[in-house]
Amino acid sequence: MYKIAISNQKGGVGKSTTSINLSAGLAYAGKKVLLVDLDPQGHSSLGLGIKTDTQQTIAELLCHDDCSLTDVIQKSYIKNLDVIPADNSLSAAEYKLAQTQAKEFVLRTKLKNAEYDYIIIDTSPTFNTLLANAFLTAEHIILPVQLDYFSLAGIESFLESINRTNVKAGSLIDHRAEVMGVLFTFYKTRTNLSKRVLEAINESFGNKVFETKIPENVKLSEAQESSKSIFDHDAKCSGSIAYANLVNEVMRRLK
Ligand SMILES: Nc1ncnc2c1ncn2[C@@H]1O[C@H](COP(=O)(O)OP(=O)(O)OP(=O)(O)O)[C@@H](O)[C@H]1O
Ligand SMILES: [Mg+2]
Repeated sequence: MYKIAISNQKGGVGKSTTSINLSAGLAYAGKKVLLVDLDPQGHSSLGLGIKTDTQQTIAELLCHDDCSLTDVIQKSYIKNLDVIPADNSLSAAEYKLAQTQAKEFVLRTKLKNAEYDYIIIDTSPTFNTLLANAFLTAEHIILPVQLDYFSLAGIESFLESINRTNVKAGSLIDHRAEVMGVLFTFYKTRTNLSKRVLEAINESFGNKVFETKIPENVKLSEAQESSKSIFDHDAKCSGSIAYANLVNEVMRRLK
């Protein structure tokens, strides 16, 4: 079982879009996939049309000892793709969770008996107890990066956060989270600025930069509005082709 967190402390870089479409693509490739929404904005849940008003969510899973996986897992409209949804109740839950003992290990423990080929975790752009839970569950991190000047500034502090969590975990459990790939999103024909950012990132991450680049494509937003993966919204658009390539590249890298 591979556990992958989609993460970057910068907001709006395509974390949720990547979580939804990577999960959907893996499921369509015949893998059994669980998408865990760990962001109070609940964008991954909304993007797949998962309702949270009458069901328990990740908030209860993390805060209630007697809440188990089967209480919160919902089936999506895609065969093989299950979701643990989130909504804004996760904000209050995070606050509560932060006061408890071993607060960073709760998600890891709750997912211990999950049986999937892939678990994909969508994270929020803040470093908090939820993100620590993601890093202590996932061995692999995909870092979506939008090619602009400010994207560089955040990456170093992001890598430090991962390291700090790894050091902390290392004394207690056998676990290490590592960036498996940097994914360029909102990719356009290169301007001089994006060219410089691209070179700088290539220099720091070398072969960890995914060959696949996700182009800027409005169909990706439209798909979310209609609560569908890009493959079901428009199978032929550039966003769809790019995410299909990403799915293959992820499977290839983890082999
Ligand atoms: N490649 C793309 N081309 C065009 N629009 C995109 C692309 N990727 C994402 N978007 C749109 O940009 C917005 C931000 O994307 P997304 O929600 O995936 O980012 P995020 O990193 O999850 O944001 P947050 O930090 O708030 O969780 C959304 O409206 C999404 O539909
Ligand atoms: Mg998001």
